[in-house]
Amino acid sequence: MSTEPPILDVFWQHRTIRFFLRQPIPPEHLDLIIQAGRRAPTDAQGQMFAFIRVTDPVLRDRLATLCNDQQHIRDAAEFFVVCLDVHRLRLLVERCGRAFGMGPRISLIYGATDATMVAQNMVVAAEALGYGTCYIGAVQNNTDVIARALALPKGVLPLYGLCIGVPDPERIPPYTRPRIPQALTFMENCYREPSPEALDEAIAVMSARGDWRDNLVRYFAAGGTMAQREPVMARAWRQQGLEVDGSPVNSER
Ligand SMILES: Cc1cc2nc3c(=O)[nH]c(=O)nc-3n(C[C@H](O)[C@H](O)[C@H](O)COP(=O)(O)O)c2cc1C
Repeated sequence: MSTEPPILDVFWQHRTIRFFLRQPIPPEHLDLIIQAGRRAPTDAQGQMFAFIRVTDPVLRDRLATLCNDQQHIRDAAEFFVVCLDVHRLRLLVERCGRAFGMGPRISLIYGATDATMVAQNMVVAAEALGYGTCYIGAVQNNTDVIARALALPKGVLPLYGLCIGVPDPERIPPYTRPRIPQALTFMENCYREPSPEALDEAIAVMSARGDWRDNLVRYFAAGGTMAQREPVMARAWRQQGLEVDGSPVNSER
């Protein structure tokens, strides 16, 4: 008899869902998902995140277009734009009669970490309830425009989107997607440089459905998707008051 707690099955079954039925999530389930998110750990209790739930269909459509026209953003029952938020923290510190002291580097690292803990708790809760999820990194294709569309004050920066919805049963992938060999990502006591053979093995393992090299080049090579996002992010960080110059974030509206 297995002694594995049943909750772990959520992890073994996880797969990103990109085809949703146009069906709502009942409010009580949505509330459970949000409460699971709110229980995530948070650095120094700062809770440096803001989740914008997009219910306006016109806005949802516009965001889908801005995010590389991904149809699942329109179809999913719920779509959140996940943001780091040090604006609220600044207001709270000022309520204590002190000047805010968080610089942009600290804000970006801890804000992104805090927000991601919440988002992933929501993903696990949603999948445990039988829903499908898809993160949307393509928010970074137009971060600055999206920040304005959502009226985000300075000190608040979109990180990615999160679709949650009822999976189309006909289009749930019948497989889970591979991961590179564990030895490349989990190490003991010190960093272990991967050998060329280990890199080839990683590519082979990841190429179970199509050559992973295409993916590596499309996203991560010079001129690829990630490189194209760099100037957008520079613009957005400046616009949102998170310019990396070491001075505390000024989140005045
Ligand atoms: C930060 C982040 C951004 C992502 N952005 C997108 C996206 O814009 N569109 C999409 O369809 N999937 C997106 N994904 C999903 C990944 O493609 C997916 O997690 C990966 O292929 C592994 O597949 P799996 O989640 O099914 O194991 C994103 C995932 C993460 C964590």
